Amino acid sequence: MKKIGILFGQENTFPQAFVDRVNEKTGGTKMMAEFVRIDQVEQAVPTDYAVIIDRISQDVPFYRAYLKNAALGGTAVINNPFWWSADEKFFNNALAVQLGVPVPRTLLLPSKERPHDTSHNSFRNLEWTNWEAAFQKIGFPAFMKPHSGGGWKNVYKLDNADEFFRAYDETGQLVMLLQEAVDFTDYFRCYCIGGKEVLIMPYEPRNEPHLRYATEMKTTGAAGKKLLATMKDYVLKLNQGLGYDFNTVEFAVRDGIPLAIDFGNPAPDADVHSVGQQNFEWVVEAAANLAISRAKAQKPGADNLTWGTFVRQSAGGVAPAPKKVEAKKEDEAKLKAKKKKE
Ligand SMILES: Nc1ncnc2c1ncn2[C@@H]1O[C@H](COP(=O)(O)OP(=O)(O)O)[C@@H](O)[C@H]1O
Ligand SMILES: [Mg+2]
Repeated sequence: MKKIGILFGQENTFPQAFVDRVNEKTGGTKMMAEFVRIDQVEQAVPTDYAVIIDRISQDVPFYRAYLKNAALGGTAVINNPFWWSADEKFFNNALAVQLGVPVPRTLLLPSKERPHDTSHNSFRNLEWTNWEAAFQKIGFPAFMKPHSGGGWKNVYKLDNADEFFRAYDETGQLVMLLQEAVDFTDYFRCYCIGGKEVLIMPYEPRNEPHLRYATEMKTTGAAGKKLLATMKDYVLKLNQGLGYDFNTVEFAVRDGIPLAIDFGNPAPDADVHSVGQQNFEWVVEAAANLAISRAKAQKPGADNLTWGTFVRQSAGGVAPAPKKVEAKKEDEAKLKAKKKKE
């Protein structure tokens, strides 16, 4: 009997629906799903789960360590707890650029306050005084948000330098991103499951939380079709690059171009009361199918995690080919040379 577990926190609707759906599909023979049960956690002792869906370890470091140990013992943890510990918004944006997925212009800012146990000397390598240059690069309005965060915490929309400094003063030891604000005509949130299945959901972030999914796509006709196809392509590229099994990608659309805003959400909201009945049904079904196929494929004692193309290429000694970026730089150089000649 292969067991599928779900590890979760305060959410109330998705975990039970997921367990019920898996058990309906498998009929409880050869495979069954349940809420993960944890008691004593000892190093190198495998769990009896073939698959664990992790919905909460971002908030519970004890669970993150439990899951890494479980993965070493052969559990297919969804999402990969090692990658989830490693990535953050700034790196993800950089990878997106390399993958050819448009993202807003973004800078990484040193934290306003020094981390505990550091002093002026810890920062001798840092030359950062030129805020004007940063504002010129990003422009206003801008967003400032934690480089590693979620749930809209400490996200600021800023219209000018005064607002920036007031907000920055509040950010303490958080490392923040300063990012161009995208003035969008359409906004989407897209589930991606198993690096294959994609559900594109129109989303209105300016609505109250419970009404954010109660909106429609504004781009219509051929442009709408093209936009949907482009977003699907970008969602797959990002998730295969990052190696997430269960994730959402947000896009803000400006001048017909979808810019990826937030795409490292390995425990994305899946509550029926926010995403709505139809989207909920889709995500429960897709997650159940994924868990079942991963449980079937799971080999006890082996590495059953998903690794993104970035890590696989690095581990295999093959440098990722930053074609787009280089091509762009080359174009820019050619343009400059041409301008000089003229
Ligand atoms: N560059 C941006 N342009 C326009 N809107 C943005 C931008 N960055 C963030 N937002 C808005 O702020 C919200 C929260 O930011 P996001 O990056 O998704 O952070 P979190 O990970 O906390 O959800 C987004 O859903 C979006 O509505
Ligand atoms: Mg978000």
